[in-house]
Amino acid sequence: MLLADKRIVILNIANKRSIAWAIAKQMDAHGAQLILGCQNERMRKNLDSIVNSLVRPPLAIVECDVSEDADITRTAEFVREAAGTIHGLVHCLAYAPREALGDAFVDTKRAHFHTAMSISAYSLVALTRALRPLFADTASILALSYLGAQRVVPNYNVMGVAKAALEASIRYLAYDLGPSGVRVNGISAGPVNTLAARGVSGFVDMLDKHQHRTPLRRNIDIDEVATAAVFLASSLSSGITGETMFVDAGYNTMGMAE
Ligand SMILES: NC(=O)c1ccc[n+]([C@@H]2O[C@H](COP(=O)([O-])OP(=O)(O)OC[C@H]3O[C@@H](n4cnc5c(N)ncnc54)[C@H](O)[C@@H]3O)[C@@H](O)[C@H]2O)c1
Repeated sequence: MLLADKRIVILNIANKRSIAWAIAKQMDAHGAQLILGCQNERMRKNLDSIVNSLVRPPLAIVECDVSEDADITRTAEFVREAAGTIHGLVHCLAYAPREALGDAFVDTKRAHFHTAMSISAYSLVALTRALRPLFADTASILALSYLGAQRVVPNYNVMGVAKAALEASIRYLAYDLGPSGVRVNGISAGPVNTLAARGVSGFVDMLDKHQHRTPLRRNIDIDEVATAAVFLASSLSSGITGETMFVDAGYNTMGMAE
């Protein structure tokens, strides 16, 4: 019960395969009270159909499309009414147009670059600012990243650039919010078969290659991301902020695979 009585906002759940859903289940098991998010009405139906399996019903479910500033403001107001003070935010959302996630990065269109940055990186800044008045003085903010932020992963393309911006934003936000005790960290997860991941060309092949090249000789399990999220949201990680921690079976540590 590492998160007993903590109220944590998790955005966004697309379906039962979402990393956000795995995190929600682990946080629920550790006693957290959750405010869960989904992007729109269509995703809401998916969420409504799985949410009953939680031990505690969520305090609220919010629809939030982060491409709209008004939606972010409305979400913060909704969270304030539903929960008052909160102890955590999990940013678990990203988007880039599919045509930007294949072929050559050099061909990335301005509009696609802008969309990827806005949805996948700027949204962390905007959500943090909107929710800032609600954070308890030990609150923990967490965002999900991927190795493509730091190294070239073919086809990940503009999403890698957006994740690099996300990881830098984590550090700047950690500096801004640190004086009030609020921590900001990232998890750089190994590949997991989700809706968003399948938008990257060659993703299934990536999963296969990855599993042979990690020190653990396997892919990660989605619950390994979720338990790391529980750690970063809990007081066990009270000295850690501004970090992006790999949960990737060690893939990032390899210089050359056999
Ligand atoms: N699956 C992987 O291999 C992997 C690896 C490392 C990091 N991640 C990251 O994990 C996070 C969750 O992704 P996932 O893999 O669970 O996929 P997912 O498809 O289950 O989740 C992506 C979420 O982003 C939301 N989203 C997209 N555009 C949005 C918008 N405009 N406004 C609000 N929400 C929007 C979707 O509705 C969905 O809920 C993402 O940040 C992703 O980049 C995934």
